[in-house]
Amino acid sequence: MTEADLYFLYRGVYVPKLIHTEASLDYFQNFTFRPQDVLIVTYPKSGTTWMQEVVPLIVSGGDPASVETIPNWDRVPWLEEVRASTLNLEGRPSPRMLTTHFHYSMMPPSFFKAKPKVIYVMRNPKDVFTSIFHYSKMASFLVTPDSQSEFLQKFLDGKVIFGSWFDHVSGWLNADDKDRIMYISYEEMIMDLKESVARISQFLEKTLDDEVISKIADRCLFKNMKQNNMSNYSAVPPEVMDPTKSQFLRKGISGDWKNQLTAAEADHFDAVYRDKIKDVQHKFVWD
Ligand code: A3P
Repeated sequence: MTEADLYFLYRGVYVPKLIHTEASLDYFQNFTFRPQDVLIVTYPKSGTTWMQEVVPLIVSGGDPASVETIPNWDRVPWLEEVRASTLNLEGRPSPRMLTTHFHYSMMPPSFFKAKPKVIYVMRNPKDVFTSIFHYSKMASFLVTPDSQSEFLQKFLDGKVIFGSWFDHVSGWLNADDKDRIMYISYEEMIMDLKESVARISQFLEKTLDDEVISKIADRCLFKNMKQNNMSNYSAVPPEVMDPTKSQFLRKGISGDWKNQLTAAEADHFDAVYRDKIKDVQHKFVWD
């Protein structure tokens, strides 16, 4: 199936039809944020699910009840997806934990008024590409790549779900009100998860004992999260996500692009990357 079958174009970016509708996008546009909300923002495959585990554990002071009983998509729901409007988010107590894959320029008016806290997670785009390539083979609502080189070109051109990685990252890095945005990378979380949890809890103004921080970090290790049926997508029917083709929690490492891209593809990627990111004032950990 092609993009025309599976996606529709919303404000210039592809979104999968299975989980986005006119009504869900209206819900997003009219959503009323509160200043106390915590919003996880990511380009797909950058560490969304990981953060959907870390943040509730920090907010609950280490109590694992929600991560053990509520699937990640209801625990920290995507505001643009169809489920959001069924969850009575308006009735949830603060701090509400929410997720979006949308670009900064797509945020609704209330976001700019209420100024909720934002945790923006970014990941080496070559690893994002690698992860999304495998994900596209296992998720029935995504276009299956014809070949790696064809899919790579689509990724670099932003003709994949949620548009261009470059636009997403540069938009959020250039956001106004940066003091309410925490920028963190997948790679920093891989390098030192405990330190990352400590930094996130500080940003969320949640004081936690060192022991609680260690416990949270341990729970959020890849090998442990992979066992959590509320976070490993095993509850999704195999017709929608086929675990025989690839796992949602697939490898959980940084640098897997080296096993995926040919030398020529990596060079091409780097050339496009350098050009598209040249005006962005940010020191990326992977550079
Ligand atoms: P890989 O496909 O490279 O393994 P998202 O949740 O944004 O869709 O991102 C999914 C990616 O994050 C997958 O990458 C997945 O394995 C990885 N991931 C999820 N939880 C993780 C964890 N606890 N530690 C490391 N990586 C994790």
